[in-house]
Amino acid sequence: MISVRTYTPDDYPALLAVQRACFPPPFPESLLWSLAQVESHHRVFPDGAMCAVDDGAICGSSTALIVRFDPAHPQHTWAEVSGDGFITTHDPAGDTLYGIDIAVRPEARGRGVARALYQARYALVRRLGLKRFLAGSRISGYRAHSTAMSPEDYATAVAAGRLSDPVITPQLKSGLKPCGLVRGYLPDHDSCDCALLMAWEP
Ligand SMILES: CC(C)(COP(=O)(O)OP(=O)(O)OC[C@H]1O[C@@H](n2cnc3c(N)ncnc32)[C@H](O)[C@@H]1OP(=O)(O)O)[C@@H](O)C(=O)NCCC(=O)NCCS
Repeated sequence: MISVRTYTPDDYPALLAVQRACFPPPFPESLLWSLAQVESHHRVFPDGAMCAVDDGAICGSSTALIVRFDPAHPQHTWAEVSGDGFITTHDPAGDTLYGIDIAVRPEARGRGVARALYQARYALVRRLGLKRFLAGSRISGYRAHSTAMSPEDYATAVAAGRLSDPVITPQLKSGLKPCGLVRGYLPDHDSCDCALLMAWEP
């Protein structure tokens, strides 16, 4: 039985292990959460620091902060929005819950763990009276198609169901909708540094 809760300092070692299991090379090791970043997530915005638990063991996690988002100016990088991963950019007076990561241990995938984490985020949007949940999402299946199509065309094909993407497809199935592509969002080999902005509104 999968459940979602906010995490505590006792959970930090398990959270760091989830990172190592979920983002193997060539994903840059410098982008895995450090202990200092996880501590900062819990300290700055504990409501957004969530983990999924299955049979008492942590099998996934996600981090979010509140920002003010202007749909007329959607372009930004992961480092800008996340305060280099420390969420020092958290703005309690903002209007958007912004997800800066989600990770599910490989052996727990395909069983609705990510969906449960997204549902918990949507519940938080409702509880805090925010306008939306937003995430800049890796398009991690893009590199294999990058000589044949632009990232925009790839994103359109995934959104239409003509292609499947390991990150975007689960998000679509969890109720998120694409709302713009960002080039140079994050150094990520698989995504050719691109991300698709994905939004959910109550
Ligand atoms: C992306 C990720 C979080 C998905 O987690 P998950 O727990 O396996 O996802 P879910 O089980 O909730 O999947 C929801 C739906 O998407 C589908 N799905 C999951 N992975 C999929 C994939 N690789 N390709 C196609 N569909 C997929 C599921 O079958 C399910 O569909 P259903 O409703 O028809 O049953 C997980 O694969 C992961 O941790 N990846 C590595 C880290 C990463 O890239 N994170 C995102 C950027 S920070």
